[in-house]
Amino acid sequence: MKQIDRLAALGLFDSRVPRYTSYPTAPVFSPNIGLMSQQRQLAALDPKVPVSVYIHIPFCERLCWFCACRTQGTQSLSPVESYIGTLEAELALLADTLPKGLRMGRLHWGGGTPTILPPALIHRLARAVKDVFAQTPDWEFSVEIDPTLVDRDKIAALAAEGMNRASIGIQDFDPLVQEAIGRQQPYEATLACVEDLRAAGITSLNADLVYGLPHQTPARMADTLDKVLSLKPDRIALFGYAHVPWVAKRQKLIDETVLPDDQARFALAGQSATAFAEAGFQAIGIDHFALPDDGLAKAARSGHLRRNFQGYTEDICPALIGIGASSISRLPGGYVQNAAATPAYIKHIEAGHLAGARGHEMTQEDLMRARAIEMIMCDFALDREALTQQFGTLTAGLDADLDQVVGRFGDLVSLTDAKLEITEDGRPMTRIIASLFDAHMPADAKFSRAS
Ligand SMILES: C[S@@+](CC[C@H](N)C(=O)[O-])C[C@H]1O[C@@H](n2cnc3c(N)ncnc32)[C@H](O)[C@@H]1O
Ligand code: SF4
Repeated sequence: MKQIDRLAALGLFDSRVPRYTSYPTAPVFSPNIGLMSQQRQLAALDPKVPVSVYIHIPFCERLCWFCACRTQGTQSLSPVESYIGTLEAELALLADTLPKGLRMGRLHWGGGTPTILPPALIHRLARAVKDVFAQTPDWEFSVEIDPTLVDRDKIAALAAEGMNRASIGIQDFDPLVQEAIGRQQPYEATLACVEDLRAAGITSLNADLVYGLPHQTPARMADTLDKVLSLKPDRIALFGYAHVPWVAKRQKLIDETVLPDDQARFALAGQSATAFAEAGFQAIGIDHFALPDDGLAKAARSGHLRRNFQGYTEDICPALIGIGASSISRLPGGYVQNAAATPAYIKHIEAGHLAGARGHEMTQEDLMRARAIEMIMCDFALDREALTQQFGTLTAGLDADLDQVVGRFGDLVSLTDAKLEITEDGRPMTRIIASLFDAHMPADAKFSRAS
């Protein structure tokens, strides 16, 4: 049987499973874990251990039809400006809750489109963050950038505040594909943005691409890949298009009849991975590529790759504080998510308290399974010895799951006393294999496809 037929028979194209940027995943968070848990856990953070800080900006000037991110379109700056006021208020509430002297090792602004902020609002937000969190000496500040909604003044403002990493959205450069996803983005504008970012001192540049979009063909993909590589990014994220119109209503504008079929998607992903390997990139986890000297590639080689809400990271800060509508905090005792809808989030903060609305408190078994799933997603392997060292006899509960994986996937995995490893041929099944260790998988959840 051809490899693709075998993977298809094992459910590659039919399975709907999480991307495991957390375990448990956000759909299983409970409304019973919210503000109280958030306040207690934030107050108990160890001030000697730096944290990561994430700020969510849920606004875009345009709403691309393919996009599944939580964001709203606006042509006016007034809701954005008022939202910055709410973020300042949330930061002031955090200052009252957190232990004194807590520092940030990382700051990430994501969205939506953080570059919708004009320079004055960039400085206001950065100042509000720095008033609460002092920076560690090796502090890193990354920002998600829409190349069509940024200019030199905004880049200069972000650089003046310390931005040293950037991630730009590209998706695809072909005009027909761009038209079909409601996202016009000329190559020249993207190149100008990259030149401005490099001139401003950005040393680590990521580019987001998507395969499986309407009208993508091997020839059009080859052209996009050439153009992307000519921009000389340090990292590339290659996401499979998640078509989830029941969640992202604007995807109903996508013509499903021109989406590539299963086989074509698989071929587009393979074609891209080959082009990146030939250009000297190292494959990282299920959907990233990085130059060998980039921090992500080094972390992957040394077994220090981690997975969080932004995808793969070499960030080692154990706690992540999410600020803004829908942001999720990862705290020592579990997860807490702020109210997801922007008006609901604003209401919480205006009432004078933090916005934690849903969450999950981790048991020891959750922590063990979270680490097991993270290992699979990052290393394509589950290191039983390391898990046993960390969690002791609890790992006995994993044995039935390991047997199930071997029974279902045969020689696509190998199991020894020391570890479970996914072979090169079995790697497209990684998310499905990880899902077999998920003890919270909701029976009725509709995640995106696994391939
Ligand atoms: C917050 S956006 C990027 C920043 C900026 N707003 C832009 O558009 O350039 C994050 C990324 O998520 C990815 N993404 C969004 N919707 C997706 C979908 N339905 N399937 C796969 N990837 C998606 C895109 O690659 C996108 O660049
Ligand atoms: S891709 Fe970026 S600009 Fe487009 S809707 Fe999504 S977040 Fe907004």
